[in-house]
Amino acid sequence: MQLTEFGDPPVFALNEVPDPEPGPAEVVVTLKAAALNRRDKWVWTSPGYCELPVTLGSDGAGVVSAVGGSVPNVSVGDEVVIFPTLGWEDGADLPTDDFDILGAPSDGTFAEQVRVSSASVHPRPSRLSWAESGALPLAGLTAYRALFTCGRITSGTRVLLTGAGSGVATFLLQLAVAAGADVAVTTGSSDKARRCLDLGARAVVLYTDDGWQEEVRRAMGHVDVVVDSYGAESFPAALPLLRRGGTFVSFGDTGGASTTFDVAEVYWQWRSILGTSMGGPHEFRALLAAVNASSWVPVIDSVFRLEDLPAASERLSSPERFGKVVIEPSAKPARA
Ligand SMILES: NC(=O)c1ccc[n+]([C@@H]2O[C@H](COP(=O)([O-])OP(=O)(O)OC[C@H]3O[C@@H](n4cnc5c(N)ncnc54)[C@H](OP(=O)(O)O)[C@@H]3O)[C@@H](O)[C@H]2O)c1
Repeated sequence: MQLTEFGDPPVFALNEVPDPEPGPAEVVVTLKAAALNRRDKWVWTSPGYCELPVTLGSDGAGVVSAVGGSVPNVSVGDEVVIFPTLGWEDGADLPTDDFDILGAPSDGTFAEQVRVSSASVHPRPSRLSWAESGALPLAGLTAYRALFTCGRITSGTRVLLTGAGSGVATFLLQLAVAAGADVAVTTGSSDKARRCLDLGARAVVLYTDDGWQEEVRRAMGHVDVVVDSYGAESFPAALPLLRRGGTFVSFGDTGGASTTFDVAEVYWQWRSILGTSMGGPHEFRALLAAVNASSWVPVIDSVFRLEDLPAASERLSSPERFGKVVIEPSAKPARA
């Protein structure tokens, strides 16, 4: 399903292309599930970002169907999830200058097959469905690094998550709860609030209510860690909720890239602000280990066939969405 014109809505076309051939250190994965991320929308609304047509999609899970000549540890038939970061060496704190993300400019997972480095495929958590496996990679990895590498959360850490219904935030909530953290969230509707309580949040407030910060304070006192991806008004509102020496982790700006805050809220409170994006191979393995050791499953909002990618793209921006929008490429589209 190729992006053929940038825009909002974007133009996608279902095109027949040659099967990908693996290079010596590559594998081809026949996809069982893929998932949308805000990044896909960012690409289709960024004219000129890359050459068209291109296949978007950073998230994927499936079965290895071809293996390059010098790949030692992967076999045809292996069931895998795909590590979507490009240009990040194993164990490194930061990516290389070649940092990128699967799915534009390189072809991604909104397809029947994708070609990736053999180092990018990992055994999928067998207790997850294909849809849950495909929903995991990008959002799970971002959430894992934000919480554990940046926020250094452990059992009992008091955490505030803003905009808990988003694709990444549902993973933040589930990973933090599974680690024994004490979690408060903000969200946009009472229906989503109920679902956050079901996922283990101790306190849920509506960011649409005036004075939601006071409600967080009443429920939690101060928190040790805030994780925010909304930016804009959410950033200065959440910063004072941190304890002295607390950590503010930022990984997105859905609400707007610019904000204004009182710098004394940082230096006079000994607080840190840490930025993060994606994560490295070691963090992806740790995410998979955390999933394998837990019982929670990724929250799936909806599942679409590959040919219904335009409808899935609309769903991504729907205010009712809660969790991940999944594509099942193996649900064969009708061909003329
Ligand atoms: N840096 C990285 O590596 C990385 C990786 C993934 C995502 N991101 C970024 O992180 C952000 C979230 O990504 P996503 O895919 O999870 O996006 P998303 O699902 O589209 O997130 C949108 C969310 O924003 C929340 N929101 C709306 N108004 C808000 C407000 N006033 N205050 C707080 N939250 C509000 C909503 O939360 P409710 O549903 O609870 O109302 C909504 O679900 C995006 O900006 C994305 O680009 C960055």
